[in-house]
Amino acid sequence: MKFKLIFPTLLLFHTVGFNMSNGVNEMETKIDLLLKKMSLQDKIGQMSQRNGADWNYNGVKAGKIGSILNEVDPKKIKKLQKLATEESPHGIPLLIARDVIHGFRTIFPIPLGLAATWNTELIEKGAHISAVEAASIGINWTFGPMMDISRDPRWGRIAESFGEDHYLTSQMAVAMIKGFQSDDLTKPDAIAACAKHFVGYGAGEGGRDYNTAYIPEQLLREVYLKPFRAGVEVGVETFMAGFHDVNGIPSSANTYYLREILRDEWAWNGLIVSDYNAINEMIVHGYCVDGKDAAQKALIAGIDMEMASGDYENYLEDLVETRELDINLINEAVRNILRLKFKLGLFENPIVNADQFPKMVNEDYLKMAKQTAIQSVVMLKNEKNTLPLSKNIKNIAVIGPLADDPFEQLGTWTFDKNIEDTQTPMDALNEVYGNDLNIHYSKGLATSRSTDDTYFKEAIQAAEKSEVVLFFAGEEAIITGEAHSRANINLPGAQEELIERLSETGKPIVLIVMAGRPLTMGNILDKIDAILYSFHPGTMGGPAIVDLLFGNESPSGKLPVTFPKVVGQIPMYYNNKNTGRPPNKDNFVHIDDIPVRAWQTSLGNETHYIDAGYKPQFPFGFGLSYTKFSYSNLTLSDSVIRMGEDITISAVIKNTGHAEAVEVVQLYTRDLVASITPPVKELKRFKRIQLKPGESKTVQFTLNTGDLAFYNQEMELVTEPGTFHIWIAPDSDNGLQGKFEVKK
Ligand code: BGC
Repeated sequence: MKFKLIFPTLLLFHTVGFNMSNGVNEMETKIDLLLKKMSLQDKIGQMSQRNGADWNYNGVKAGKIGSILNEVDPKKIKKLQKLATEESPHGIPLLIARDVIHGFRTIFPIPLGLAATWNTELIEKGAHISAVEAASIGINWTFGPMMDISRDPRWGRIAESFGEDHYLTSQMAVAMIKGFQSDDLTKPDAIAACAKHFVGYGAGEGGRDYNTAYIPEQLLREVYLKPFRAGVEVGVETFMAGFHDVNGIPSSANTYYLREILRDEWAWNGLIVSDYNAINEMIVHGYCVDGKDAAQKALIAGIDMEMASGDYENYLEDLVETRELDINLINEAVRNILRLKFKLGLFENPIVNADQFPKMVNEDYLKMAKQTAIQSVVMLKNEKNTLPLSKNIKNIAVIGPLADDPFEQLGTWTFDKNIEDTQTPMDALNEVYGNDLNIHYSKGLATSRSTDDTYFKEAIQAAEKSEVVLFFAGEEAIITGEAHSRANINLPGAQEELIERLSETGKPIVLIVMAGRPLTMGNILDKIDAILYSFHPGTMGGPAIVDLLFGNESPSGKLPVTFPKVVGQIPMYYNNKNTGRPPNKDNFVHIDDIPVRAWQTSLGNETHYIDAGYKPQFPFGFGLSYTKFSYSNLTLSDSVIRMGEDITISAVIKNTGHAEAVEVVQLYTRDLVASITPPVKELKRFKRIQLKPGESKTVQFTLNTGDLAFYNQEMELVTEPGTFHIWIAPDSDNGLQGKFEVKK
């Protein structure tokens, strides 16, 4: 096979977009000096990342490894850094990487739960705690945050995402990056963050993991790229390319995304790592003939470091020697890797002094984990004020496979947990209310997937003895996350059946759901009186849920993703296009109401399902609390603004109920007519406000006409003059609506 020599335009750009201060110049000079001394093999060594099980001390000593992932023994890490810096040819320290996704030892709610807090400050603090814990054992790089937009709850990795909206995702991702990286990367407790998976991994067909995505350029720019761009703006140090292919090109070889957009257009000069084995998997994709071909294509596209598979190690030397690859590509990649090592201060301080670090899982961290878990819980239903539970209750039934499971409530990506640290709802109930309440406990089902009804009788007896049933339902951690997509997203196993049986007792049922995705609950919704959706809430999930159940705290979480009624409605997301025949309740005819042998007609029929309608079960942004909030007095600073000007929008939010609570106030806009059909709503801002009973606050937002911009057919970011609707709202389906014009 013949290879073309390709010289991407940006080979010489290494300081573009980078602050040209002396410090930076000095660093680039140091890199230049090092590069001059390094042999081709030394350089290729830097570009290879080895998995925990695959590295060996000799490889590190010989300078054949630039980074190690999944080694978490602090003694080994210390020895490795000592070998690398004291005995390898150029004394270059190692990047020690780990997936610190929602906690290291102290586990926070899964990212989807984090997004439900709509609280960037909390997310930043939590990520910082995770960084401190991870850094204390020598980790200096995490593969997070994942910022893939996910509109498909079947996809297992939706758990790791911040949901369906690019604005919310961007805000969350930025907060997490700041928390991981701190304001100074050389601090011993700062670790490099990684924006992943570039780009469109969440758009895989059918929600099947690793799957093909087709993303037109306008959608790519309007939705999928935005969080990554926000990451670049806040200084994320690394990027990871995805496993998947988009529009026919595997992400590890996508020169357009990696070079033209990320490097050229965004002028970003951080480190790009491949996903695990993803370079070699391009052979399986049918895109490369062999490992050599894969190594060449990945490097040309701009992957600096190869994770796990050894194609760089095996073939780059030969490719350079036969002039099938330009050595400048190698120099550029190594420069990006060395730059990160310098920025992290690893040349000066490669070895961590564990004594400098606070104890892991300390009281402060647990408090923060509990606070985050409280805010991540979304109350989806509360008939007849079933919640909070009355303090007079004496007998309570605690049922369900997730009521007392310290492992499962932690969720996916928790390799470094210590399950002894977990406090389950049962632990918390016993601790706080054990003396005042009779707790009648039954697992009901051995696991979330179990179909065996052995414990049904015991569970029903527990319910019969009680005034209220708390049913802890959901998914075990392992049926969520990577490679664990589901085609049916109802409660798994015989949970629905058990709920049905429990409802026959006539006792009120509170459903507490721990899950890695939105579940479809239509089959049991009318048998349930209240729902607290807690995603997988982490180490302090138990005390957080118990505080909410008893009203010590009021729920404040809002959905970061649409909950469909049935799986067949997917994809379903709030910022869809209007279409020429948008759904309308006056025209909707349900399947059961269509007369037999009705005359064929399409007029009056719109974009909906005749069986499932057109509304989701719960819309994006939705969440109840123990009080009621009224929205009034929508005020716009102007009815007409000129291009480049600001508009201020405010409304008065009042707590009209009896509990102090937090409301997440959301601002949405709609461009009525544009040169690309606009979405029906777009989230532009949000604010959390706390209100005492009877208290009101004026919430004010400012938008610039630039905030109304979109990518037009020429892929230019433009704001077009015209009419805009605007809402200050409790969720994406309600709110006070106003209107303004943008003029040239
Ligand atoms: C995942 C990445 C992860 C990597 C390293 C891959 O399977 O897709 O998100 O960072 O493994 O563990």
